[in-house]
Amino acid sequence: MVNKCLFPAAGYGTRFLPATKAVPKEMLPVVTKPLLQYGVEEALSAGITTMAIVTGRGKRAIEDHFDNSYELESQLKGTPKEHYLNDIKKIIEISTFTYARQKKMLGLGHAILTGEPLIGDEPFAVILADDLCVCNNDSVTLQMIELFNEYKCPIVAIEDVPINKINQYGVISGTLVEGSKRIYKVKEMIEKPEIDKAPSSMAIIGRYILTSEIFEILKNLKPDRNGEIQITNALNIQAKQGKVLAYKFEGKRFDCGNFKGYLAANNHFAKDK
Ligand code: G1P
Repeated sequence: MVNKCLFPAAGYGTRFLPATKAVPKEMLPVVTKPLLQYGVEEALSAGITTMAIVTGRGKRAIEDHFDNSYELESQLKGTPKEHYLNDIKKIIEISTFTYARQKKMLGLGHAILTGEPLIGDEPFAVILADDLCVCNNDSVTLQMIELFNEYKCPIVAIEDVPINKINQYGVISGTLVEGSKRIYKVKEMIEKPEIDKAPSSMAIIGRYILTSEIFEILKNLKPDRNGEIQITNALNIQAKQGKVLAYKFEGKRFDCGNFKGYLAANNHFAKDK
């Protein structure tokens, strides 16, 4: 059973400076809701109620957001604005939020390893909040958990991206699992390859189901040439043992890590307002 979701949320968000100087990038709003709240709602939609958030310095707004705000609530009580807090109050009521602080920015793999005390010895989901996904039916995380329950191995979500952008992603090569159009058995994974060395155009997007085996692998993994511990390289060790699946998810992703994707997400959600 996947009962916990880890949210790496310690990055600086430099692409959104100066907005992210004092505000965590995960708290940037898409219309009126912070990016991280979309991620938490996705985890809840997949039946997960324990959120393990890996934060860092200057990220206290995240903890305050997912906590009661008695002063604000009493100010709004009985006014026509009271309902604005309904959704977030419900989330706070049904979820447990746990936190670990990443002391140094040493890559996504290191952020995930920092969350080990919050996860323990069980499978878990990972959501990178700046990949904002919308689906008609089941959320991406729910789609992946259903797959995990069947295959019981690590799974990464993938998407075909234009080849000139492939160097911004972890990339997989693999073969379709018999009888499936969306599930690949991963042969190899490479983090941000040069365009002419990319093994395919299938990019990893910010959704993973991992097993606790990954923590030992991460502890023993050498940093890459930028000094970072990459989750892609850790998973590649499991992939070489034939243990990793990649899943072409059903739905649409907005890359809110850059301005164009962020704007597109805002336009998409503004339509519902
Ligand atoms: C991270 C991962 C990368 C993945 C991407 C998805 O990169 O390292 O493998 O493709 O997330 O968004 P980042 O965007 O943090 O540089």
